[in-house]
Amino acid sequence: MRHLLTLKDLTTAEIEDILRTGRELKDQYLQGIREPLFPACVMGMIFEKQSLRTRVSFDALMTHLGGSAIFLADEVGFGKREPVCDFSRVLSQMVDVVMIRAKHHEDVEEFASYATVPVINGLTDFCHPCQALADIFTMRELLGSEKGRKLAWVGDANNVALSLALICGKLGIRMAVAAPEGYTFDDEHLQFIADNQPGWELEITHDPVEAVTGADVVYTDVWVSMGQEAEKAKREQAFADYQVNGALMAHCPQAYFMHCLPARRGLEVTDEVMCGPRSAIVQEAGNRLHAQKGAVVWLLNQR
Ligand code: CP
Ligand code: NVA
Repeated sequence: MRHLLTLKDLTTAEIEDILRTGRELKDQYLQGIREPLFPACVMGMIFEKQSLRTRVSFDALMTHLGGSAIFLADEVGFGKREPVCDFSRVLSQMVDVVMIRAKHHEDVEEFASYATVPVINGLTDFCHPCQALADIFTMRELLGSEKGRKLAWVGDANNVALSLALICGKLGIRMAVAAPEGYTFDDEHLQFIADNQPGWELEITHDPVEAVTGADVVYTDVWVSMGQEAEKAKREQAFADYQVNGALMAHCPQAYFMHCLPARRGLEVTDEVMCGPRSAIVQEAGNRLHAQKGAVVWLLNQR
């Protein structure tokens, strides 16, 4: 049995398996085929934070596969009402796979250490592996092969950025991160990235123009992630020069724009870029369904 807690947990070949399965199932889906590969399989979905894409994509894909999903929000008291070890061992008796969106990555690690069913990280403060799988899936649709391509991350080196760094390392995609002093990857993250793919080099700069020059994809995310609301004023000031706008995109005329969403239009990105001809945000969000379907099928087949 396997879990998907960070992309470091997967080999390059396993990532390829997941993306290939997701691709095949998306092609079938587009032809109107929803083969019930896992009839009556149940996913428990624990949410400690808000969600649109993650919640709906996992719920829908379980239905497509012939199963179902149970939405477990505040009322189940994850991490509050009973110890994580008890929560995990009990839930494992009742469902076939668990997806958790948690405030603290350590809680997901602890949950998985007691679980007897596969556990999927649906976003923590540390990383967001499902998002990165869907992003590579989308890059393949946009660019063909992603080999040797360059992804420029502009803004906070956050949970989404870390997962992108891990998957870019595994798949040989160049990545540049432009973030202000104090908001780039810290030493612990850099070590995690280096351990994931020794020899892969991440470009780090404080200059957004330098990062996007030669980029095939420009990616940003909110400056204030869920849980960081108390730092809003400080962060908005620190990131003021890191907005993805028409002037920045003019430095990479071929590049697509990506964002995990939800976006704060007028802060990290302008309306012009969000709605512009090079924006891939809607396709990217839709691919959460397909890439994660590949991951769920892969995990259920590993049991
Ligand atoms: N990108 C993403 O995970 O979206 P949600 O927060 O809506 O799930
Ligand atoms: N970095 C954002 C991503 C939301 C999908 C957050 O953690 O809130």
